[in-house]
Amino acid sequence: MVKKLKICCIGAGYVGGPTMAVIALKCPEIEVAVVDISVPRINAWNSEQLPIYEPGLDDVVKHCRGKNLFFSTEVEKHVCEADIVFVSVNTPTKTRGLGAGKAADLTYWESAARMIADVSKSSKIVVEKSTVPVKTAEAIEKILSHNSKGINFQILSNPEFLAEGTAIEDLFKPDRVLIGGRETPEGAKAVKTLKDVYAHWVPEDRIICTNLWSAELSKLAANAFLAQRISSVNAMSALCEATGADVTEVSHAVGKDTRIGSKFLNASVGFGGSCFQKDILNLVYICECNGLPEVAHYWKQVILMNDYQKTRFVNRVVASMFNTVANKKVAILGFAFKKDTGDTRETPAIDVCKGLLGDKAKLSIYDPQVSEDQIRKDLSMNKFDWDHPAHLQQPSSPTAIKKQLSVVWDAYEATKDAHAVCILTEWDEFRNLDYQKMFDNMQKPAFVFDGRNIVDAEKLRSIGFIVYSIGKPLDAWLKDMPAVA
Ligand code: NAD
Ligand code: UDX
Repeated sequence: MVKKLKICCIGAGYVGGPTMAVIALKCPEIEVAVVDISVPRINAWNSEQLPIYEPGLDDVVKHCRGKNLFFSTEVEKHVCEADIVFVSVNTPTKTRGLGAGKAADLTYWESAARMIADVSKSSKIVVEKSTVPVKTAEAIEKILSHNSKGINFQILSNPEFLAEGTAIEDLFKPDRVLIGGRETPEGAKAVKTLKDVYAHWVPEDRIICTNLWSAELSKLAANAFLAQRISSVNAMSALCEATGADVTEVSHAVGKDTRIGSKFLNASVGFGGSCFQKDILNLVYICECNGLPEVAHYWKQVILMNDYQKTRFVNRVVASMFNTVANKKVAILGFAFKKDTGDTRETPAIDVCKGLLGDKAKLSIYDPQVSEDQIRKDLSMNKFDWDHPAHLQQPSSPTAIKKQLSVVWDAYEATKDAHAVCILTEWDEFRNLDYQKMFDNMQKPAFVFDGRNIVDAEKLRSIGFIVYSIGKPLDAWLKDMPAVA
């Protein structure tokens, strides 16, 4: 009888959970165990209410769970039994010590690697699924080979390119799957084993095989290129506002060039999410460590531009409202870092809300997927100031959060009696709100600050709103109230 292939994934997060669920769905003959040290997370994966919101995920999990997909806290048992171990633990930015504010914190990765070495009794393929610095595979090989008791480990790099909100779609039809391995016969054999797993549903010409370092670096490079496009279009949005050009028209015209392409050119209040900033900082650090300060400086600008865009938005809001928002109710529509996710990691809403709270605004926040607890936690947390590692950006004070903040479950409730509305996430439902009803219940003059360019500004102006759209020609009111960036 052919032995059933067993996969174990360490880390049941935004990547580990959906990725393994799709592997289980597409490869019914493979047994997949997703393990985590977090008991609540695993309990949620085993419940009706999955720990993350991702369109299509429920169906996939329900189809496979208990058949060939298992979620467990018995980390060591499943690692010991597995032929392939994916490591999909978090790799946040270091907040202290050498490289603080830039380098990736590999504490979780290293402890997972040591545990694999400790509990393994048979040869294994260990797959880097987390995003890690170039050459991490070498470090992991050292840990495994020094503790291996003669067991053979092959390390592969298989970075994940899914985006939140479209994770299932991205996993079903990836632009590419990238597998990096050692250029030895054993390395090639391991690459083939993993390639055969993906080949169940990914066309062969979309599975790219490279050396280990190319695969590791390609992940950082891809995120840096994507974020760079957003910072580029956001830089243009500032110039558009100054000159009367329209950023949507500019990005359409630019994106029509097939060498440039049309995707990822939407101006916004800034990019968020757990990956872009962290991975670029990591890239900057690697460049510095390799004696390439000019290259480091180049990529750092992508983050500086993103910070500038968020500050520029807050300044625009305050300047337009007679230079003060003190005691004025401002409705915040959307808190997640993008639509179709409840994830708030590095969401631009945190910085915008903190900026407005700092100016003493009274905020009423509505997001269809983010809980009140999460919003209060995000706004009261110290945020690490990556550019000044010795400092922490001030959290909003507990009094400000208590007195100035309310979280509601309806856009109309949020905007009732408000002076202004700030749209910070592009949720579809915000496109079709009854803006006339909203206007009727707001203070006058009533403002809409659209940080995602999703509303029909002309229609809203005809209702009576003063409308600011990122990178669009300013109306007379906004021109008269210039914001200093
Ligand atoms: P996450 O924080 O959602 O999940 C990581 C999980 O790993 C947590 O549940 C944590 O409890 C668990 N964990 C940590 N150490 C462990 C250990 N020693 N044993 C068992 N479990 C352990 O993180 P995520 O968003 O899934 O990201 C994971 C990795 O994938 C990161 O390196 C990230 O950069 C990368 N990535 C993320 C995305 C994304 O969209 N979120 C996309 C591509 C790549
Ligand atoms: C990103 C990468 O896209 C993905 O390949 C990688 O695996 C993880 O990091 P994610 O952060 O989940 O995915 O979402 P993404 O769609 O890339 O959006 C990131 C941020 O950029 C969001 O805040 C989004 O609103 C913003 N964005 C995106 C823009 O402001 N303009 C755009 O044109 C596109």
